[in-house]
Amino acid sequence: MWLVTLLLLYSLQEVNSEDVVSTRLYFVNASLQRVTFSSSVGVSLPCPAGGAPHAVLRWYLAAGDDIYDVPHIRHVHANGTLQLYPFSPSAYNSIIHDNEYFCTAENQAGKIRSPSIHIKAVFREPYTVRVADQRSMRGNVAVFKCLIPSAVQEYVSVVSWEKDTVSIVPGNRFFLTSFGALYISEVQKEDALSTYRCITKHKYSGETRQSNGARLSVMDPTESTPSVLDSFQSGEVQVGHSVELPCIASGYPNPTIRWLKDGRPLPADSRWTRRISGLTISDLRLEDSGNYICEVTNSFGSKEVTGHLNVIEPLRVTLSPKNLKTGISSTVILSCAVQGSPHFTVSWYRNTEPVVPDQHFSIQGAHNETLFISAAQKRHSGAYQCFATRKGQTAQDFSIILLEDGTPRVVASFSERVVVPGEPFSLMCAAKGAPPPTITWTLDDEPVARDLSRVRASQYTLSDGSTVSHVNVSSPQIRDGGVYRCAARNSAGSAEYQARINVLRGFGL
Ligand SMILES: *[C@@H]1O[C@H](CO)[C@@H](O)[C@H](O)[C@H]1NC(C)=O
Ligand SMILES: *[C@@H]1O[C@H](CO)[C@@H](O)[C@H](O)[C@H]1NC(C)=O
Ligand SMILES: *[C@@H]1O[C@H](CO)[C@@H](O)[C@H](O)[C@H]1NC(C)=O
Ligand SMILES: *[C@@H]1O[C@H](CO)[C@@H](O)[C@H](O)[C@H]1NC(C)=O
Repeated sequence: MWLVTLLLLYSLQEVNSEDVVSTRLYFVNASLQRVTFSSSVGVSLPCPAGGAPHAVLRWYLAAGDDIYDVPHIRHVHANGTLQLYPFSPSAYNSIIHDNEYFCTAENQAGKIRSPSIHIKAVFREPYTVRVADQRSMRGNVAVFKCLIPSAVQEYVSVVSWEKDTVSIVPGNRFFLTSFGALYISEVQKEDALSTYRCITKHKYSGETRQSNGARLSVMDPTESTPSVLDSFQSGEVQVGHSVELPCIASGYPNPTIRWLKDGRPLPADSRWTRRISGLTISDLRLEDSGNYICEVTNSFGSKEVTGHLNVIEPLRVTLSPKNLKTGISSTVILSCAVQGSPHFTVSWYRNTEPVVPDQHFSIQGAHNETLFISAAQKRHSGAYQCFATRKGQTAQDFSIILLEDGTPRVVASFSERVVVPGEPFSLMCAAKGAPPPTITWTLDDEPVARDLSRVRASQYTLSDGSTVSHVNVSSPQIRDGGVYRCAARNSAGSAEYQARINVLRGFGL
């Protein structure tokens, strides 16, 4: 009975250690960092991390608390999908409905965590949008803006403008900017006869709203210094995207517009387009970062607006080595390469717990980008994750480190025998360990003389990590007999094997 149990335990352990090799952890969507949903619809969010053949998926609040089920409010399905049900405003709880969450995936290989995901419910709250009446001179431009309450600005955007209840088709003196403003160029007397409205849409509830009808008073031109009607501010945009820098001014005579970047006229580039609404730069590059000035001038004076454009690369993190199997007591060096704009911070996790420097762990490098594990122990196995964070951006990569008891074992060897003087013989020792051991030979406790042309020792490492070593004696003499011992050593320990080789006396030579 005992024997059966023991055998069973043993075979289970074997299965486990085999599994670790083929077990994987992965991210389904590593870039997911924000989820906004309508309170009347709810949200169902699969865990962005997973594992194969199987992983336990769990959700937590970023503050570290476990997730519990709240009947009819929040539930985590067995498949790891987090569900927040539709709710009425009275059931709102900011801890549940507006908080940072993260999901973890755990199996025998280790445990990884997603970046924090801000999950936020948005209500169908009453709001109104307004457009203010404007004044303009004939021949100038008029700018109408749709005034959206700041509380809903994030989710409400302008979808169109109407002139006397008819949707405005851009072109022919009417322009819609990417910020939702309406520009009317070369203002004419009859523009004063119409009313102008903006139509908005709520991103999550889908509701649309219509503003009041605003009017335009059109005056006869009078000589005046330029005044800026709409302009841009400093901002940050990702490489490859487009940006619109609005700059539009009134005045009489009509002001001219000049753009400067870092004090110099704009470089000639097909990616830069000057429109009535301002300057558009498409397919942004890092070198487009800089100070932009829009200068408006007429014979009575000039005005300028300045803003700083910062073009950033998305963060990308590569942790190397990926997946390492090595012996205990070896030194493991993990390096986290971060690409993208500078000024990021790096943090390290092992199985989702922050790595705390101690006698085994040290975090080094100008950006904390290198993790040293010295004299690594079996308990240091697991998933190591490197997170780089910069403002709202987070990127991560992870690596599975498996520390095995890598003490060498002699897996093949020679046996005791009698050899005839002058007849070549060869002894072989093979040892396994992690890291691969080195093998040394002794004869009667003295190192085997390698430099003799009669005696050759050699070793090589096989692809499975074992080391094979031979001692070949081409023309044995009496003094080549004795106890041969091979010793296999690595940082985890050593193993030895020995046997006697007898050279026949009084034979020939
Ligand atoms: C990952 O999440 C982001 C943000 O929600 C989404 O835009 C993107 O399409 C998702 N990618 C995949 C592969 O699901
Ligand atoms: C998870 O389970 C829920 C409830 O059974 C189901 O609605 C959802 O589609 C499942 N999601 C995935 C990703 O399998
Ligand atoms: C590196 O990490 C330590 C804490 O482990 C922190 O005090 C330090 O500011 C970090 N350095 C950088 C450059 O991020
Ligand atoms: C020693 O002998 C073995 C077996 O005959 C052979 O495989 C090996 O290459 C030899 N090594 C040297 C250094 O001669």
